[in-house]
Amino acid sequence: MTPPTTTQARTLPKPAPIIDQFVIDPEVVFLNHGSFGACPQAVLDAQSAHRLAAERELVRFYLHDAWGKIDRSREALASVVGCTAEDLVFVHNATTGVATVLDNLKLSTGDELLITNCEYPACINNFNRTAQRTGAEVVVADLPWPIESEDQVFEAIMSKVTDRTRFVLLSLITSSTGIRLPVERLIAEFKSRGIETILDAAHGCGCVPVEIDNWGAAYTTGNAHKWLCAPKGAAFLHVRKDLQDGFTPLIVSINGDNLEEAAERTGRSPFNQAFDYVGTDDVSAYLTIADAIEWLEHNMDGGIDGLMKRNHELCIKARNLICEAMDCTPPVPDSMLGPLSTIDLPAGHKTAAEVKDRLESEYRIQIPIWGTPAGTIAVRISPQAYNSIEQYEYLAGALKNILAS
Ligand SMILES: Cc1ncc(COP(=O)(O)O)c(C=O)c1O
Repeated sequence: MTPPTTTQARTLPKPAPIIDQFVIDPEVVFLNHGSFGACPQAVLDAQSAHRLAAERELVRFYLHDAWGKIDRSREALASVVGCTAEDLVFVHNATTGVATVLDNLKLSTGDELLITNCEYPACINNFNRTAQRTGAEVVVADLPWPIESEDQVFEAIMSKVTDRTRFVLLSLITSSTGIRLPVERLIAEFKSRGIETILDAAHGCGCVPVEIDNWGAAYTTGNAHKWLCAPKGAAFLHVRKDLQDGFTPLIVSINGDNLEEAAERTGRSPFNQAFDYVGTDDVSAYLTIADAIEWLEHNMDGGIDGLMKRNHELCIKARNLICEAMDCTPPVPDSMLGPLSTIDLPAGHKTAAEVKDRLESEYRIQIPIWGTPAGTIAVRISPQAYNSIEQYEYLAGALKNILAS
């Protein structure tokens, strides 16, 4: 961030005390966990230890030790996302997870791929590329905004289903608007119509309760590097058991031609074998997922469950106080939010870029802000353990000053 442009140094609001365990710049009011997460020092240290252990004996690591360490993270993560461990594999991010699924789908000309207008741009780009390659068509369901109820969202999505719909992409929590979609109900309804769901839980584990096996989506991908505070490059892909046969990574590696035999040798499933080694790679972020989960369980009041509850409550409180300060109405029912919330502010004559720049340079606040087609300015909050209500009071005051001036 550039230095403040005001001559007077501002007194910055105090974050929550746990911030001392993160490496976040104390001169920044960091209110954007949602974009890239943030990793505690202890977790970064655990990642360094994994890297060092590998470097001490690389051959033993890649041919032997890595398997047990990957399984340790697989098991720890499975208990957080509610699934059988061996149905999970690791990828470096949710975008790769979605691209991998698309690469494995058998599609023909005229098939329809249903998405919503609130899906993450990288996922939409991958859907469009797949459509170009296969002759399938991407159909977009526009979600309402503001939102009154889950039913409204459910109906907006279902209204786009036709007898050619084959697969649907749903975010568990939408990136731009922070809505927790009613995925349980949608997945079940799609299944009853013979349509399979790709669930994008990029904001999922550590964010809201996730129950992969109970929900029954065909494919689920998600990031551990966001709300589980794992190092960057730690994400997962879950493939339902009945779809694992022949499901491959984007990269076919040395065991690609004899997966069964390699799997027997290492005592793992062919699905795990295919993904656990995809060429020489830094897998330390995967190995550290188990450490990040342990860190959260030990350092958060009530462990990960307690953290999710705390962040949701802080999100609602912060959203309400910003709405009150700016005299606007909360756009989404509380029950449809996790720890992310987007609020539309009256823009006056300001542009989003100007507001963002002034928040950074005058107030040291780091937060996503963008302009909307309706001419408003959207701000997205995403409180994590290290954020405090005082930081959001400070944000509300700053927004009021900037937008009123
Ligand atoms: C809903 C959603 N899907 C996918 C992604 C992509 O995640 P990544 O950049 O880790 O691939 C994001 C990133 O914020 C997201 O919010």
